[in-house]
Amino acid sequence: MQKKTLSDISIQGKRILMRVDFNVPFDKEKNITDDKRIVEALPSIRKVIDNGGRLILMSHLGRPKGKVNQEFTLAPVAARLSKLIDCPVTMAKDCIGTEVMQQVLALQDGEVILLENLRFHPEEEANDPDFSRELASLGEIYVNDAFGTAHRAHASTEGITHYMQTAVAGYLIEKELLYLGKALEEPRRPFVAILGGSKISGKIDVLENLFNKVDTVLIGGAMIFTFFKAQGFETGNSLVEENKVELALSLLEQAKQRGIKLLLPVDVMLAAEISAEAPCHAEAINAILGNMIGVDIGPETAELYRNEILSAQTVLWNGPMGVFEIDNFATGTMAVAKALSEATAKGATTIVGGGDSAAALSKAGLTGEITHISTGGGASLEFLEGKELPGIAALND
Ligand code: 3PG
Repeated sequence: MQKKTLSDISIQGKRILMRVDFNVPFDKEKNITDDKRIVEALPSIRKVIDNGGRLILMSHLGRPKGKVNQEFTLAPVAARLSKLIDCPVTMAKDCIGTEVMQQVLALQDGEVILLENLRFHPEEEANDPDFSRELASLGEIYVNDAFGTAHRAHASTEGITHYMQTAVAGYLIEKELLYLGKALEEPRRPFVAILGGSKISGKIDVLENLFNKVDTVLIGGAMIFTFFKAQGFETGNSLVEENKVELALSLLEQAKQRGIKLLLPVDVMLAAEISAEAPCHAEAINAILGNMIGVDIGPETAELYRNEILSAQTVLWNGPMGVFEIDNFATGTMAVAKALSEATAKGATTIVGGGDSAAALSKAGLTGEITHISTGGGASLEFLEGKELPGIAALND
């Protein structure tokens, strides 16, 4: 990596201000339902504590729109972190101000404080210079380990680096760049990408960037129907982006010209409505009729995609194959998850980016059987699009 990391700095006795992405999901009772983002930040956190640093953690949680809203407090995260590292974590009432400064200055070597949600202040997302300066004044060294937020040029990710002499990457960012970067730059071949999700519009740049790197692309999710429309198939009541039909045609053409194998489903699962009670059945793609909605890839497609995945040395997966949140419509997505785990066991490098695919893997109980699951949703997508991530670009070279 071209950036300095936690391994390049001296930590003992220093106030280390670390941006993490503790934007974790909660259930209705305010229990954390997936602590992966906290767990993945532990190597950096432990490094600071074990080396006698005074750790000031900061994060956002959700989108409270610049207002204090206890629904988005980070207090439950402080409690979970404290359990995970088996040491007390002080929860601050705010992320700036006199009281916070006093608490931070009172930290002893090896102690940890978590600042309250940065997005309680509108200045965070506005990347306000005064707010950035105020945050910067809390620490002596800045560490960014928030890969999931690295695509945002916010005060705590980008602005702050203008006011700190030392701004380095944490180990999670280092790890994410290692896996995602290596897959894109030096993939073992064949390199197969699986792209799903509902809209082509969210994936155009990824597709175009991946066309320069991959051997095969497998497409799933509702976006297949925009491709089908472009090919003249009937799409029933499935989601079609009418204004992207021409684009879909040109993507198919581009793939052909570059010699990339771009596969679309040969069969799909159809239902009358998107609901947990609705029955569904498989049909070949030239038989989609009437008011039915495509909700998943069909069994023949799942088998076809499985064979492609098992023949690959590098597999990248972003986006579910269907409405996997509903069990009836999850079979295709689960089959892809399973094929990825089988490919991993056979020695392929398998990488999953995007919150939905990671959630699908977790639903399949296969989280531990994949080479790398990115903690970034939007961030990993932007990385795959070939874009510079401002939170990383701003760190010391
Ligand atoms: C994410 O969950 O993708 C990151 O935490 C960024 O959150 P945001 O999309 O609200 O900026």
